[in-house]
This record gives sequence, C-alpha cells and structure tokens, in this order.
Amino acid sequence: MDPDSLVITDVSPRDGLQNQSAHVPAGAKVDLVLRLAAAGVRSVEVTSFVSPKTVPQMADAAQVLAGVQAALPALRASVLVPNLRGLARAQEAGACEVAVVLSATETMNLRNINMNLATATAVCEETIVAARGAGLATRAYIAVAFECPFEGLTDPIAVRSLCERMLQAGAQEVVLADTIGAAAPCQVTRLLSDLRGVLPLDRTAMHFHDTRGFGVANAWAAIEAGVRRFDASVGGVGGCPFAPGAAGNLATEDLVLLARQSGLETGIDMDGLRDAVEFAEAQLQRPLGGRSMGWYRALAQ
Ligand code: COA
Ligand code: ZN
Repeated sequence: MDPDSLVITDVSPRDGLQNQSAHVPAGAKVDLVLRLAAAGVRSVEVTSFVSPKTVPQMADAAQVLAGVQAALPALRASVLVPNLRGLARAQEAGACEVAVVLSATETMNLRNINMNLATATAVCEETIVAARGAGLATRAYIAVAFECPFEGLTDPIAVRSLCERMLQAGAQEVVLADTIGAAAPCQVTRLLSDLRGVLPLDRTAMHFHDTRGFGVANAWAAIEAGVRRFDASVGGVGGCPFAPGAAGNLATEDLVLLARQSGLETGIDMDGLRDAVEFAEAQLQRPLGGRSMGWYRALAQ
C-alpha cells in the first residue's frame, strides 16, 4: 500500500442509485461508469445482485456489469451480493470481485437482508468462501459500524468480532461503513484503534455518508490513522433504502480535493468528476455535488 496515495472506489452506480425512485436505464448506468473511468477512477462498485423485488433499480445488474466489463476491461469492477444466489448471478454475468454486506446489529440485518445477525454472518461467510474458491476478489462490508438507526451506538466489540469472522472466511478487504452518516472523527479514530491487531490497515476501507457534514472530517481521521482505501460517490449521491435517515455518501470530488491538498495521489481529476456529476444530475433530474463542487464550478466560469 502506497502511503502517498488513496485508492478510491466510487460506489455511485450501486449505493448512489439503489435509493433513487427515478429509473435509470442500464445504458446510462454504464455511461456513468465510463465517465468515472475517464476521470481516472480505477475502482467502481457497479451494481448489486440483490432481489429485484427488494431493490427494483438493480434488476438490470447483469446487463450493467456486462456493459461495463466490455467497455472497460481494465477497471476494477466490484458488485454487491447478499447471498449465494447473488454470487451465482454475479458469476454468470462475469464478475471478478464481489462484496458481501453484514450489518453489525440484529435489526439492521433483518431490515436490510431479512436475516438475523447469526444467519447473516454465516451467509456472508459461505458467500466469501465460495467466491474465493471460484477465484474472485472479495470485500466484506460491516454496515452500521458506528451507529444503527434502530439500535443506537454500535458495540465496537461486535464490529471487531465480525471483522475477524470475515477475514477468517477470506475477505481480502473489510469496509467499515457509517451507513447513516452518524460518526464523528473521534469515533473513527477510536474504532480504528479498537480494531488494531485484528484488521490490517492495508485491508481496511472506510465508507462514509455525509448526513451531518462530517464526511471529509471522518475521512481525514481515517487517513491520519493510516487508512488509504475509501468508498465515495460522485456528486454525493447515495443512501441505503432500509436505513432511515441515511443521506448521500461522502462525495468523490470532496475526497479527491482533500487528498490533492494533502499531498496524496488519487489519479482522479476534478474536471472529469464534474462531467460525471453533470451526467448524474441529468439522469436524476436534480442538483448534485459535494460541497467542493459548487466552488469548483464557480472557478470555471
Ligand atoms: N438475487 C435475486 N433474487 C434473489 C436473490 C438474489 N441475490 N436472493 C433471493 N432471491 C429470490 C429468491 O429466489 C426468491 O424468489 P421467488 O420469490 O421468485 O421464489 C425470493 O428472492 C425470496 O428469497 P428469500 O431467500 O426468501 O429472500 P428474502 O425475501 O428473505 O430476501 C434478500 C433476502 C437478501 C434476497 C433481500 O432482502 C435483498 O435482496 N436484500 C438486499 C438489500 C439491499 O440491496 N440493501 C442495500 C445494500 S446494503
Ligand atoms: Zn452506503
């Protein structure tokens, strides 16, 4: 892991779009990924192989993944899978990398994937083992790692034990997700310190939502703690449909700008991100953009 650069996974086509009521056609989703890649993004979570009844926006997962892989064979394209059925669909569609999603509380697992914590943990384990056995790269989300909309503050001991289980199953990267954007920087520092000795920093990624405006501050706390892998979403679009109160993700442009002014490479350029934001705005028919995008647009005028 290069200490002078950040690896950013843009999750806008999945986390960003799963919550949108306006249907975005598969071709436009692929186009969004092309624009992200043109901006220099090298890792994208392109879709999820979840139940189309539960998340209708993701019903076209196979088509989107195939379109992305045909156009961008060198892109690191990850997909979310909630169970073995999702993994099988992802493999059939040619996925090379999958992410499982395990919430750190009982209620969040029930709301999100209709499983209790013990079942969800076992299902995530079997999905990771099967994916690794098939030669796929794997990520494991620990959702509501800081606070749960139903159960309040999350017990760091629970997060620690779930991290251990996911790593033992073969997860190559663990993504600590602040699903509802409730954490403050001191909590990020504390959780990463609590996980020392369990979760290696080079296999840790952070996934922040910007509900309270702490997204960039939280990213900085994680950077200072030695994390170099982050999820973010262009334009800040995003949110979990099953987690009340979740606003959009930390915007990719805000993270890129933070990195740039802190001497960290991302390989991503702001003009390209502006193009992707404007494309997403046209698709969703509403203004988007992280806090930095207004400033950046004004510069260009
Ligand atoms: N993809 C497509 N269909 C799936 C599926 C998958 N990964 N997993 C299960 N199904 C289908 C089953 O085949 C079954 O179909 P049928 O009704 O035609 O027989 C139906 O869904 C119900 O299956 P079941 O195993 O009972 O699932 P469930 O209704 O308990 O739902 C999940 C469980 C995990 C599939 C569902 O809650 C889900 O997709 N959650 C994802 C939520 C999400 O995307 N959250 C945001 C990301 S963090
Ligand atoms: Zn999220």
